Amino acid sequence: MTGLGEFSGGEGFRLAWGGVLRSILAPMTADQIASALPARAVTAIEGLPFPRIASGKVRELFDCGDAILMVATDRLSAFDVVLPDGIPGKGILLTQISNHWFKLTEPLLANHLLPDQIGEMKRRGITDPDLQLRSMIVRKLKPLTIECVVRGYLVGSGWSSYQKTGEICGIKLAAGLRQAQQLPEPLFTPTTKAPKGQHDEPINDAQGEAAIGAELYRQVKAISLELYKFGRDRAAKAGIVLADTKFEFGTDAAGKLFLIDEVLTPDSSRYWPRAEYRLDCSPPSYDKQFVRDHLLAIKWNQTPPAPTLPADVIKGTQDKYLAACRELLAL
Ligand SMILES: Nc1ncnc2c1ncn2[C@@H]1O[C@H](COP(=O)(O)OP(=O)(O)O)[C@@H](O)[C@H]1O
Ligand SMILES: [Mg+2]
Repeated sequence: MTGLGEFSGGEGFRLAWGGVLRSILAPMTADQIASALPARAVTAIEGLPFPRIASGKVRELFDCGDAILMVATDRLSAFDVVLPDGIPGKGILLTQISNHWFKLTEPLLANHLLPDQIGEMKRRGITDPDLQLRSMIVRKLKPLTIECVVRGYLVGSGWSSYQKTGEICGIKLAAGLRQAQQLPEPLFTPTTKAPKGQHDEPINDAQGEAAIGAELYRQVKAISLELYKFGRDRAAKAGIVLADTKFEFGTDAAGKLFLIDEVLTPDSSRYWPRAEYRLDCSPPSYDKQFVRDHLLAIKWNQTPPAPTLPADVIKGTQDKYLAACRELLAL
């Protein structure tokens, strides 16, 4: 495990500072983000003066009084297990991609980011450049207890479910559809939000309504489909297929709905380069499929502890995340 202290010096530090200083004046370009990535993965966040609220698979949440400091580490999970190795700079890439999409989707739905991120960080003494780049200062909201998945293509667990039952989340589909085929209309296929170490399970509309209430369910279903279509159309302009994605929502004390967590990142979405899109297979994606393929090849049984990753798999995965960042920030 690596603490932030190990980055207070060295080349990564100086380069990162350049990036942060520029970011105060203008949004960072993908090149600036690339030059700010640390040499070693940051897999633990220690020594901050804020009480820790929670540790997710990837993010650490800290209580800043009237807000939450949400820090994306470089941890990588596959098959719902956190791997012992991180991917250097992955947390920075995820945060920067999310920030980009939060800005683009703001007209569709309010999100959890406080408006002046740099100001909020400075005010709270968050000055370490690496920490700034991987952090968000967000509103304290109550996360809904479902994960809002939208699928535009028949792939992954959706394809598995269709093969077994002809349905996804209780939605009956036409016979004869092919793997990776675009669906006639995007489908809202929510899941439970499982406790740590357990797998999220698909649920149907009735189960979703029972979990969060019929009116709120109707609202998040509609906005999830709208957000997916927005992301899909935007990504298509850059030659990227947004196959599916997962949104999370939260409510404030008054019941107002916000988009929370991360949005349209390679961790929460399946993105395919259009040029490599093929039917009847699971096309290569801009995400951790590279790692999953390795873990499948070495026949790991998908229960902890996970094996360590070879250097070329770590580098290859970093390249995928960086490529996604380059493509998406150009949108
Ligand atoms: N604005 C917010 N207020 C409260 N909780 C949030 C907010 N944004 C995100 N979260 C929660 O923080 C956690 C993020 O950590 P992450 O590592 O992604 O967790 P997970 O292992 O559940 O994917 C999630 O449980 C998410 O629901
Ligand atoms: Mg998450």
